[in-house]
Amino acid sequence: MAQIIDGKLISAQIKDELKEEVKKISENGGHICLAVVQVGDDPASSVYVNNKKKACAYIGIESRAYELPETTTEAELVSLVEELNADSEVNGILVQLPLPPHINEDLVIRTISPDKDVDGFHPGSVGRLWIGEKGFLSCTPAGIIQLLKRSGIEIEGKECVVIGRSNIVGKPMAALLLRENGTVTVAHSRTKNLKEVARRADILIVAIGKRQFINAEYVKDGAVVIDVGMHRDENNKLCGDVDFTDVADKVSAITPVPGGVGPMTIAMLMNNCVETARR
Ligand code: GUN
Repeated sequence: MAQIIDGKLISAQIKDELKEEVKKISENGGHICLAVVQVGDDPASSVYVNNKKKACAYIGIESRAYELPETTTEAELVSLVEELNADSEVNGILVQLPLPPHINEDLVIRTISPDKDVDGFHPGSVGRLWIGEKGFLSCTPAGIIQLLKRSGIEIEGKECVVIGRSNIVGKPMAALLLRENGTVTVAHSRTKNLKEVARRADILIVAIGKRQFINAEYVKDGAVVIDVGMHRDENNKLCGDVDFTDVADKVSAITPVPGGVGPMTIAMLMNNCVETARR
């Protein structure tokens, strides 16, 4: 029977540890403030933003909400980010993505000071990660490393295959696994013989964005499978990029959807916010 990696439990443990740490920081006169910027009222973004605010409240981090209309111009948003960069009371800045199509996301991300980039999306943060310097880590991949470590799964020397090469998950995931001394392959939509490549993996990270795409044929006996996908199945139930039922009997450990990777992203965002005070 496969070990089910419980992201809800592990994220709750991390948040409790952070809450304790923030209590000590407060006792020493410290204060942590996260600016949360949302442009427009996309319902999915509103859910994410609310969950982030709730996590801040639980841990003892102040969250300042900036809810801007859909018609906000790029110049107005850039100007707000510049103000937040200069505001010494603001430790972290999060601009919820996606932004409306008339705003250049890359430009906005680059405007955030790398010292306040708690999402870890700034090219400076990405560069630091690849050359092994301290910096903010992209939250979902950092959460996956925590899931593995806290489940007693060793990364060093293992064949790690990441399916997906996005800037937010695939690429930083590869960098982090490499930093943990894994042997890393990044596969993607143009990879030939994806089944064979995936079957090499001791640790298979799936961020392919296709519903229940990975079945038992893609998985080696005893592999560890981490599912980053989030979709609705034909019965409107949440499911991932991995066909959980098909794969579960073959693997040694697997993350469920929901309750696997998802809850870890916010926990690691909170960790990045606390990191601003540790520095
Ligand atoms: N939209 C979806 N996920 C994220 C995230 O992790 N950070 C931000 N800023 N926007 C997102």
